[in-house]
Amino acid sequence: MIRIGIILGSTRPNRKGSQVAQWVLDTASRRGDAEFELVDLRDHPLPHLDEPAPPMFGPSIHDHTHAWAERIAPFDGFVLVTPEYNGGAPGVLKNAIDHLFAEWTDKAVGFVSYGVHGGARAVVQLRTVCGTLGMADVGYQVAISVLTDFENHTTFAPRDHHVDALTKTLDQLLAWSAALAPLRAGAETALVEP
Ligand SMILES: Cc1cc2nc3c(=O)[nH]c(=O)nc-3n(C[C@H](O)[C@H](O)[C@H](O)COP(=O)(O)O)c2cc1C
Repeated sequence: MIRIGIILGSTRPNRKGSQVAQWVLDTASRRGDAEFELVDLRDHPLPHLDEPAPPMFGPSIHDHTHAWAERIAPFDGFVLVTPEYNGGAPGVLKNAIDHLFAEWTDKAVGFVSYGVHGGARAVVQLRTVCGTLGMADVGYQVAISVLTDFENHTTFAPRDHHVDALTKTLDQLLAWSAALAPLRAGAETALVEP
């Protein structure tokens, strides 16, 4: 069965992201056509990238990078749940992405963002980052408003159309995750024989 990691891109105290990511996990898990797991960056505290070799050339030397790689490698695709900070993606999420290379390549990725304007600018950045890593970013996305999708600015209450957007995002994510499986099977060869 296809395995999808739902990566929560905020580690901030009082983060709204945990409610959004839990909604993604709950909604996705009801589908029954793939396995979904929450990946909380709080469980993988990484320093600013401190590997002597670029991850695309490796090998990595630090235990925290090995642990992060072992967490990410088994997944076939990802949902990045991201807030928008100052018009872009959070540094903690970009840093977590930058720590690895092969673990991302030839996998599909979809986006659930949130912010005053739905967090769309963070997704624009992340699409570029993920594309550079050889990931297939699906076209559908979910854009949650922190103004109108949270009651009293605290309790997540997504409007109905977000469920439809999430369903379409996951449909495409699962299809592409499966379609890329042959490339992942040959990934080791591709890395040594460019
Ligand atoms: C450092 C910082 C910068 C922010 N910049 C933006 C922004 O550019 N656009 C936006 O829509 N919201 C912005 N916000 C508001 C966030 O959308 C809101 O605080 C959201 O809850 C952040 O996600 P989190 O609570 O999961 O960390 C910013 C928040 C923080 C903490």
